[in-house]
Amino acid sequence: MNETKPIVAVTRKIPDAGLKLFGDRYTVRVGNKVRGLPPREFLALVKDASAILALLTDKIDAKILDAAGKKLKIVANYAVGFDNIDLAAAKKRKITVTNTPAVLTEAVAEHAIALALGVARRLAESDQFLRGGQYHGWEPELLLGPELRGKTFGIVGLGRIGSRVAEIAALGLQMKVVYYDRGNRDRQLEQKTGAEAVTVRKLLTAADVISLHVPLTPQTRHLIGKAELESMKPTAILINTSRGPVVDEKALAVALRNQTIWGAGIDVFEFEPEVTAELLKLKNIIMTPHTASATREARDAMAELAANNVIAVLEGKAPLTPVG
Ligand code: GLV
Ligand code: GLV
Repeated sequence: MNETKPIVAVTRKIPDAGLKLFGDRYTVRVGNKVRGLPPREFLALVKDASAILALLTDKIDAKILDAAGKKLKIVANYAVGFDNIDLAAAKKRKITVTNTPAVLTEAVAEHAIALALGVARRLAESDQFLRGGQYHGWEPELLLGPELRGKTFGIVGLGRIGSRVAEIAALGLQMKVVYYDRGNRDRQLEQKTGAEAVTVRKLLTAADVISLHVPLTPQTRHLIGKAELESMKPTAILINTSRGPVVDEKALAVALRNQTIWGAGIDVFEFEPEVTAELLKLKNIIMTPHTASATREARDAMAELAANNVIAVLEGKAPLTPVG
């Protein structure tokens, strides 16, 4: 008799802050695999569902939408990025797609800044040095790195996250901010932070820190490749908390190994969860396992927003944060 209630298929456990919102109005099926469900179980989980609450690691394509069937009204992504969803296939079937913007802006921005400071001050390398028993006393020139104040912070993609990073860099670290956003300008942010809109070329050649905040699209795939890395300063720090394929990871490994740039802070990987082996051997990179939004606050708010999108659509109301 439960099956008469609309089915919400949640592909894997998300914070209770979101799950509890479903109350007993829906039959909530939650995927029980840590690594994502194998294809057969995935298809079974979504079968007859009215809503799918998906993770960024779930590829939601025509096959999945058809496996769900005619009742499916919404795919609510538990992420701000939605490159894992075939929007055209959803649109064709009149299925709403939503994401979780804004609620994770602070978390990701703080992580991008943490990586920038961490790479500049060689935090991971210092920690390993100490744990490896190599610290035998204070030294005048041990593990030196650049100071960030007064240096130039380049932001590629000035959405919510890019804008917040600009504020922290300009107002907190007193850095000069330059940005590129497909030629768009944000005069309010410029006034608040002194940020300057520049061409990509100028940004790449002038910035001491370059942080990427673009979605993954055909246009942004390998936005940063060999040529772009070669045009950066030898002191440049590259930060990526967006999507892995925005950076050509092999080219990055070469640039870091040859020290043609100073370092990198990378949260997302081109072949996630695989990491280009070369990177693991290098000291001038800090890597985190796609955890930029991993604050308790952000993950709870993402769960609530994804659930509220599902509930709105199943109640016949407008979704809160639709995409496409
Ligand atoms: C995380 O990568 C997200 O898109 O929310
Ligand atoms: C994401 O929230 C963005 O707009 O940068």
